[in-house]
Amino acid sequence: MNNGNSIFEVLLSLADAVIITDQDHRILAVNATYERITGYAHADILGKKAGILRTPHTPPDTYVSMKQSIHNGLPWSGVFTNSKRSGELWHSSITITPYVIEGERFFAGVFRELERLESGHYLDEGRLGRIQGSLLKVLAISCEIRDPGIETHLSNVQRLTERLLVRHNERSGLILSSEKITHIVNSSILHDIGKSAIPEGILYKPGPLADYERKIIEMHTLIGVDIVDKIFRELDDELFESELSTAKHIILHHHEKWDGTGYPHRLKGEQIPLEARLVSVVDVFDALVSKRPYKEKWTVAQAIDFLVDQRGKQFDAELVDSLVSLDRDGLLATAQASC
Ligand SMILES: [Fe+2]
Ligand SMILES: [Fe+2]
Repeated sequence: MNNGNSIFEVLLSLADAVIITDQDHRILAVNATYERITGYAHADILGKKAGILRTPHTPPDTYVSMKQSIHNGLPWSGVFTNSKRSGELWHSSITITPYVIEGERFFAGVFRELERLESGHYLDEGRLGRIQGSLLKVLAISCEIRDPGIETHLSNVQRLTERLLVRHNERSGLILSSEKITHIVNSSILHDIGKSAIPEGILYKPGPLADYERKIIEMHTLIGVDIVDKIFRELDDELFESELSTAKHIILHHHEKWDGTGYPHRLKGEQIPLEARLVSVVDVFDALVSKRPYKEKWTVAQAIDFLVDQRGKQFDAELVDSLVSLDRDGLLATAQASC
């Protein structure tokens, strides 16, 4: 690559992070900025595939369009969320330019860190997730404002959903992306949003419910989906798109039972989306350890006994096992936050 040497020297002297690869995407050279940002020394990554920095946060479509373009000899620009050596995420706008020098093909990638943009705004996944989470929380609390204890219950459900999800992910090797986990945790707070449309006299009736009253309460699952559909249609922004489908699964199916005796669609087993199965376990656990007008609070041990008894009946047995495997102190803390 004699003629190429001078081109590559110029590229590597740029102030942005630069990487040069061969046609198989093996790293031939990186510059000092690249080493500083990624934490990888030149000598450590020489000969490795450029994909070592990849994360699931970059949508698969991005890689497809990049490969199509550069293999047709055309430059490509896009946004990557890569991982540094430390594991920290790194958001960059990258331009990859193919070069053919003395019959050999090379690729030069120039990265610009998005966090350092001097104008405009760039939201990384963490910040985006926090904003989405706050908006959904306000929405959920506003819809159930008539119930004074609702904020504690919703926060408990959300906190325990996260702990159970992370544990279940480890135990059963689900390999859920951190993005999917954020969507489930954020959406769990919306599970009963449809209750906002149920008359107070029925919702908070102290005595037993008549059949028709029970049917009305059961409608909160269908009404909830209607509410979020309207809100997201109004927003008309792809920012919330995958959150929307996760939220709808949870709202519609959090009262389905593993054995098919739940509502509204009497789904069975794995027909029930995982996120709904999970919120169902957490929702019932928190309801049991909380004091309600019609019941005293149960101890954590009593609530766990109930869940274990309902393994494979009301609940997904694997999820109950994951919850039981969480430390009792953490479960107790959830129970004490309930009143
Ligand atoms: Fe519900
Ligand atoms: Fe609930």
